[in-house]
Amino acid sequence: MTNNIEFNSDPAAVPIWPVRNRDLGAWQTDHPGSMSAWCKSNDFTAAAGKFLTLPGDDGKLAGVLLGLGDGGEKTRDYWSFGSLANALPAGLYRVEGDLSPIQADHAALAWAQAAYRFTRYRSENADSSRGGDGDGDDTARLCLPENADGAYLQGTIKGSFLARDLINTPASDMGPEELADAALALAAEFDADASVIVGEDLLAENYPAIHAVGRASTRPPRLIDFRWGDAGAPRLTLVGKGVCFDTGGLDLKGAAGMLKMKKDMGGAATVLGLAAMIMAAKLPVALRVLIPSVENSVAGNAYRPGDVLATRKGLTVEVGNTDAEGRIVLCDALAEADSENPDLIIDVATLTGAARVALGQDLPAIFTGSDDLAADLIRLGEELDDPTWRLPLFAPYYDRLKSKTADLNNVSDGPMGGAITAALFMEAFVSQSDRWLHLDSYGWNDRDRPGRPSGGDGLAMRALFALIKERFA
Ligand code: BES
Ligand code: MN
Ligand code: ZN
Repeated sequence: MTNNIEFNSDPAAVPIWPVRNRDLGAWQTDHPGSMSAWCKSNDFTAAAGKFLTLPGDDGKLAGVLLGLGDGGEKTRDYWSFGSLANALPAGLYRVEGDLSPIQADHAALAWAQAAYRFTRYRSENADSSRGGDGDGDDTARLCLPENADGAYLQGTIKGSFLARDLINTPASDMGPEELADAALALAAEFDADASVIVGEDLLAENYPAIHAVGRASTRPPRLIDFRWGDAGAPRLTLVGKGVCFDTGGLDLKGAAGMLKMKKDMGGAATVLGLAAMIMAAKLPVALRVLIPSVENSVAGNAYRPGDVLATRKGLTVEVGNTDAEGRIVLCDALAEADSENPDLIIDVATLTGAARVALGQDLPAIFTGSDDLAADLIRLGEELDDPTWRLPLFAPYYDRLKSKTADLNNVSDGPMGGAITAALFMEAFVSQSDRWLHLDSYGWNDRDRPGRPSGGDGLAMRALFALIKERFA
């Protein structure tokens, strides 16, 4: 990855002035001569997201104006630094202006994230979007803005690029084993204690549900487990859905529904990115990460509709639909997480299409029995422009999961409220839902936006990090 942030300041860097409409006149008064004349002759109005490069008297680049429109208060107004990063000529830039710490971090983050490219399968120099050879000297680089937190940014960029790479890698190269290897590599980097239970050993170790979902793949299912930090610190367990490809199983998905299912390990990727942030920042938590890593495939030994599965907790589950596989693999991991009674369990999963119908792609749904947890995460998400929205664990719908033959069915008996019934299924495997937070995420950007190219993304990672920091640090 090309790091386009310069962590040392340099007074020779070209200034970027973020300006609101209403402040443009004052800026022109403060910068008479060719810069303000150029500004006028270009009819620049400081509209949001528009920018203008400014010449000095020698014709060299003397500065850049970045329009904030009527905005500039909200964090989301600073994503536009991402379009600058890809549009400005190569060179070194700095921000001129009074940004708050959150705004300064966000401007730098947008700039850094704009440099993200998924180049694994591109022949060298095939990416013409910048025409660079990737060594950094042909890119626009930004000096770390005043007020920005360099260590936080490095951890965040690392976590977010990791999540994106893992999601974007096609299932052919990101199977259950490769996902486990990525987790092991991250664990090794931070001296975490890691183990993986593979294939038939899942049965011996009492993870029957993970095994049932993953057994039809030629690539055996597994459970990744790593621990990091001071065992005496507050205990935080992260659980991520690692379905490396979701065909739907025997209740096979159609072509359109299957197309993007390499991203069905997006929860695992988000959790790994978040773990990277936590470990890089050395947050004072006893961290545990659990990732059931499987492929939901079709074969003669695939689990079937109507099968009754054993689970780690002991509850039996009738399979109403093999495409509701996420909650099945997660229920064993959640039961294990819960057995230690940690202070907080957070799971992230690309669990339901219904959550996307309810809230759209960019707004992960959260579920928890704790009003405080929900309110804190939503508030921090707003502050950091990493939003989530709460849906209820509406207990009366639990009836919809009833089964005549088993303790519960994995799907509800109707098409409505699917994100809620999925969350209620998961809640049956945790003992204290006020210490549990479930995030149903899309794990993906459907369109290109500044700093957020289309493709995989660890949505809510920054908001979750802020929540954990606020609670435990
Ligand atoms: N991985 C999907 C959910 C999904 C689909 C997330 C598209 C994001 C985008 C999950 O395994 C699934 O197939 N869920 C089913 C559940 C249904 C069978 C009750 C769904 O949402 O349709
Ligand atoms: Mn599915
Ligand atoms: Zn799935």
